[in-house]
Order: sequence, then structure tokens, then C-alpha cells
Amino acid sequence: MKNHKPDDEERRKWQNPERILADIGLKAGDTFIDIGCGKGYFALPAASSVGKYGRVWGIDIDQQALESLKLKAEQAGHKNIQLAAGKAEEMVLCQGCADIIFFGVVLHDFENPAKVLENARDMLKPGGRLINLDWKKELMQFGPKLSKRISANNAAGLIETAGFDIEHINQSSPYHYIITARMQI
Ligand SMILES: C[S@@+](CC[C@H](N)C(=O)[O-])C[C@H]1O[C@@H](n2cnc3c(N)ncnc32)[C@H](O)[C@@H]1O
Repeated sequence: MKNHKPDDEERRKWQNPERILADIGLKAGDTFIDIGCGKGYFALPAASSVGKYGRVWGIDIDQQALESLKLKAEQAGHKNIQLAAGKAEEMVLCQGCADIIFFGVVLHDFENPAKVLENARDMLKPGGRLINLDWKKELMQFGPKLSKRISANNAAGLIETAGFDIEHINQSSPYHYIITARMQI
């Protein structure tokens, strides 16, 4: 089989965003920051989960992806999503405002993941959680090339170096791992 890019319908079969957000404990009233949010595969269902007293921030370098997300948010009637265009390496949206900082299949994409993780630490509330969902470092028919992928152990090392304690490393799909970490106190 040739390498291909799964569309959202295929992706949902093995990566259901509502289930993943429920599993990480996202709840009404939370502030959720989705770094590298793309077109909102996680940010849009997160907006439903956090409700009108919560807030979703989406950060992405791709202005077109953010435009698409903005349109979908308007169509869905979400008034609790704010978007910020730019490099996550250069962005700290707030000090200590987030309950959850989420990386959805994106840590391997950053030029400087260590800097992005440092910024994430600044944005998290004390006791807040960082979630890193990413591709396993294995050969597959789709997803990023092997040399770009970050193994779960290496990602956990980067996250610890940025000042977090690792709580869990679990399998999230046949193709992905998920890491939960808390800020060191
Ligand atoms: C593989 S996509 C994942 C998008 C989304 N999280 C999802 O699960 O569908 C990676 C996203 O990260 C963004 N990205 C890559 N480098 C970035 C950077 N340095 N700062 C902010 N966003 C970045 C890309 O534009 C892209 O939208």
C-alpha cells in the first residue's frame, strides 16, 4: 500500500477526539490551550466540552488552517474559541491560565520542541496538566516519516526537562501514544 494521508472520517475510526478529550478529563469551565491546533480536530470538540464558562485557545502557524477553524467554530455557534497565529516557540498567551495544554500529533513538527514546552509550562495553572498525543516511532503506511517522529521515551524526557512530572504514558491508538504530565511544584 502506498503512503497516504487519512481524511478525518478515516482518522476518527482510530482517533476519536471526543473520547480522547473525555479520557483526559476535560470538563466544563476549563481553559484548554491547543498548540498546533490546525483546523480544529481537537479544538472544536473541546469547545463543546468546556462550555460557555470555559475557553479554548488555538495556536497555529498556518493562517489558512485557523481561518478554516474560525469558520467551523462560527457555524457551530462556539463563542468560546480564540485563535492566535504564529510560531508556538514565540508564544506565551498568558501566565498560569490553562487547566490543560494539549499537543495533538504536533510535537514532532516543532523546530524547537523544548522552547514550546517551556512556553507551555508558563501558560499552565499550578497543578495543570500537559497532554502530548503523538505518533509512535514506528514505520507506518501514513503519518510523518520515521526520522521526524519522537519516541514516547524521548518525548517524556523533553517534557521532564521542561519542568514536568510524567504521570502516565499510554497507548492511545494502534499508531499513537499519549503522555500525561503535571507541572513540577
Ligand atoms: C499534524 S498537524 C496537527 C493539527 C491538529 N493538532 C490535529 O490534530 O489535527 C500539525 C499542526 O502544527 C502546526 N505547526 C507546525 N509548526 C508549528 C509551530 N512552530 N508553531 C505553531 N504551529 C505549528 C501546523 O501548521 C499544523 O497545523
